[in-house]
Amino acid sequence: MASGKRILLIIGGGIAAYKSLDLIRKLRTEGFRVRCILTRAGAQFVTPLSVASLSGDKVYSELFDLMSEAEMGHIELSRDADLLVAAPATADLMARMAQGLADDLAATTLLATDKPVLIAPAMNVRMWEHAATRRNLSTLRRDGVAVIGPNAGEMACGEFGPGRMAEPEEIVSAIKGLLAPGARPLAGLRALVTSGPTHEPIDPVRYIANRSSGKQGYAIAAALRSLGAETVLVSGPSGEAAPPGVKTHRVETACQMLEACLGAGQFDIAVCAAAVADWRLADQSSRKIKKRADGRAPALQLTENPDILHTLSQPGATRPRLVIGFAAETDDLGVNARRKLEKKGCDWIVANDVSPETGIMGGDSNTIHLLTAEGVEDWPAMSKTEVARHLAQRIASFFAQS
Ligand code: CTP
Repeated sequence: MASGKRILLIIGGGIAAYKSLDLIRKLRTEGFRVRCILTRAGAQFVTPLSVASLSGDKVYSELFDLMSEAEMGHIELSRDADLLVAAPATADLMARMAQGLADDLAATTLLATDKPVLIAPAMNVRMWEHAATRRNLSTLRRDGVAVIGPNAGEMACGEFGPGRMAEPEEIVSAIKGLLAPGARPLAGLRALVTSGPTHEPIDPVRYIANRSSGKQGYAIAAALRSLGAETVLVSGPSGEAAPPGVKTHRVETACQMLEACLGAGQFDIAVCAAAVADWRLADQSSRKIKKRADGRAPALQLTENPDILHTLSQPGATRPRLVIGFAAETDDLGVNARRKLEKKGCDWIVANDVSPETGIMGGDSNTIHLLTAEGVEDWPAMSKTEVARHLAQRIASFFAQS
C-alpha cells in the first residue's frame, strides 16, 4: 500500500484521457490520495464530474478563479503533492513544459514545482516523431522529468506506431518506483557542483575565457537533485538554464567561484566540473587598454587562481565525504588524471579527453574514465545527461556502502 502518498494528476486533452479515469481508480485502490487538474482540452474528453467522483475531491481547472476564491492555487497544489503526473501528456503540454510557459493552471503548477514529475505522453505517431517533440522530450529529460511510454500500437486516428499512452497499471508501477524509499537515495545529503568556465577580466571590456559550456555540470546538478540531494550549483558564465529545484549561484571569476562555494555551507558531496581559469591578471586595468602608437602589444602579467577542488579536498571536519574532480586532458589522459587525483587530494577523478577532434568541449556527449582508489572504469560514449545520471547513481552506491 502507498500509505497516503499524494499524487497530483494533470489530465491533458487527448483521447487517452479516458484511461486516466482508470488510473485514478487504480491509484486510489493502491492507497494513493489523488488530486486532479483537468486542462480545458482534457475536459473535452472526460467530464469534471467523472474525475471528481473517482478522485473523491474537487477538480482544479482554472488558474485565476482559484486565486480569487482563495482556494488552492498552483503553488499549494504542487506543495501538497509528493509527485506530479501528467497523463496524458499531449505534444502541446510537453512543448509548454519544455518552454517553461505558465499559460494555464496545469503549466503554471508544473513550472512552480520542485517535486518529481512523471509524464505519460500520448499523441499521434507523426507528432511523437516530429523533431520539435523529440527536442522537447530531451529538454524535459534533461530537466529531470521522468517519462513513461508511449507504447506502440494501433491509434485512435487509425495510424500505427508509438504514441499510445502507457497503460494505467504501467503508470502506477512507474509512480511506485519513483516514490519508493530507494528512488531518492541521496535524500538528506547536500551536494555542491561547480560548473562552466570562468571569465577573468583584463579590462572592463575584455576577459580570458575557455570553451566550457557548463552542460556537463548542469546535468550533474540536475541528476543529483533528482536522486534527492539538496543541490547547490555554482556556475561561471553559461547559457544553460538553472536546473529545477537546484539553488544556482552565478559568478564570473575563479575567486568569486571559490567564495560562493565556501559561503554555501557544508556539503556531503562536492563535484568540481567547472573549467576554472588557472590564471587571472595580476593587475586588472580599470580602464580599457588602448593600442600604443609604437605598435607594441601590452604584456599581460598573470597570477595563479585559487584551486577550488584542492581547497575543498583539504582534510578536516568540514570536508565533504566525497570530493570529485574532473580532469580535462589533451595528452596522456590516464597518467595525468592519476597524477591529478593525488595532487588535488580528491576521492575520484572523472577524466575526459578534450582534444578538439573529440568535440567534447561544448558538445552534447562525453566519454568518461572514472578513477577511484580502486582503479579505473572506462565508460562507453554517452550523452552528457546519461553521464550525469550514471555518476549520480555511482555516488548513491558509494553512500549506500559507506
Ligand atoms: N579546478 C579548480 N580550481 C582551479 C583549477 C581547477 O577547482 N583553479 C578543478 C576543476 O574543476 C577540475 C579539476 O580541478 O575538477 C582539474 O581541472 P583541470 O583544468 O583539468 O586541471 P588543472 O588543475 O587546471 O591542471 P592543468 O591545467 O595543469 O591540467
